[in-house]
Amino acid sequence: MKIGFIGFGIMGSAMAANLASAGFRLLVYNRTREKVQSLISDQVVWKDTAAELAKEVDILFTMLSTPEVVSEVSGGENGFLPAMRKGSIWVDCSTVNPSFSRRMAELCRDHGVGFLDAPVSGSKIPALKGELVFLVGGDAELVKTCEPFFEVMGKKYVHVGGNGMGSAMKMVVNLLLGEAMYAFAEGMVLGESLGIGKDMLFDVLLGSPAVAPLMTLKRDKLANDDYSPEFPLQWQQKDLHLASVCAFEQGISLPGVNAIKEIYALAKQQGWAQSDISAIYAFLKQRKDPL
Ligand SMILES: NC(=O)c1ccc[n+]([C@@H]2O[C@H](COP(=O)([O-])OP(=O)(O)OC[C@H]3O[C@@H](n4cnc5c(N)ncnc54)[C@H](OP(=O)(O)O)[C@@H]3O)[C@@H](O)[C@H]2O)c1
Repeated sequence: MKIGFIGFGIMGSAMAANLASAGFRLLVYNRTREKVQSLISDQVVWKDTAAELAKEVDILFTMLSTPEVVSEVSGGENGFLPAMRKGSIWVDCSTVNPSFSRRMAELCRDHGVGFLDAPVSGSKIPALKGELVFLVGGDAELVKTCEPFFEVMGKKYVHVGGNGMGSAMKMVVNLLLGEAMYAFAEGMVLGESLGIGKDMLFDVLLGSPAVAPLMTLKRDKLANDDYSPEFPLQWQQKDLHLASVCAFEQGISLPGVNAIKEIYALAKQQGWAQSDISAIYAFLKQRKDPL
């Protein structure tokens, strides 16, 4: 079985490396070739375009940044979807909104290609360790076919429902993540302004039921002002935007999402786009004027 992988950013690079380590032969493509260079070997073969890659593979994984980019790489010039063979499967691991995933599923049906939306929960370190959780939407038989790959790249997969339902679950997860990170940043800034030291705040807050467990993993980043990206802040803002799109489509109101999304947008505008999500704390702390 020939496997294709497109998208070698923070997450895709780690996921593809795990597939290669498990012995799978891969055909690979990324907009920026240098990011793949160290992985290329007899077993991991570079293709010059996404379309060239797609002609040869049975299963294609994509790990791209936004719905716009997934659209462009799949259906733009040299896009892979028209080139995929009938009966092959596209597994999109990018975080996108569910209505977008359903649209991709329809396009796939038109081309005789199977489609799974399979975004992941877990960041750079779980990706490197092969400990992601896949949230999968699509046909159960296709999910079964892809199980060996999910097992190599992740510790678990959850078949949430039909197409779009994996992306739907991911929207919920990242809404909670973005709001929890922001709430923790506000708590830290308030505590420090009242004269409580960072270490005291960490010691009291981390592990308390009021704080999301993820914050324990961000302690060193906040303690050392090290915002090198694990989960880029710009993608958290994108995910809150996509959650807001979902809310509009569903006719529900999510005021917190929209307000907090704009705070991440301000941080992005001020140069924190490619920093880790935890940089929202540094952004808040440095501001002299009220938001
Ligand atoms: N990082 C995390 O913790 C995390 C966790 C779970 C889910 N996610 C989601 O996973 C996806 C990837 O995240 P990431 O952190 O790996 O992002 P990233 O490091 O920024 O990588 C983004 C990927 O998209 C490609 N790309 C961007 N714009 C493009 C364009 N116009 N045309 C072609 N390719 C383009 C990039 O290619 P180049 O290499 O050429 O730039 C790269 O391969 C996102 O949807 C993100 O929300 C991330």
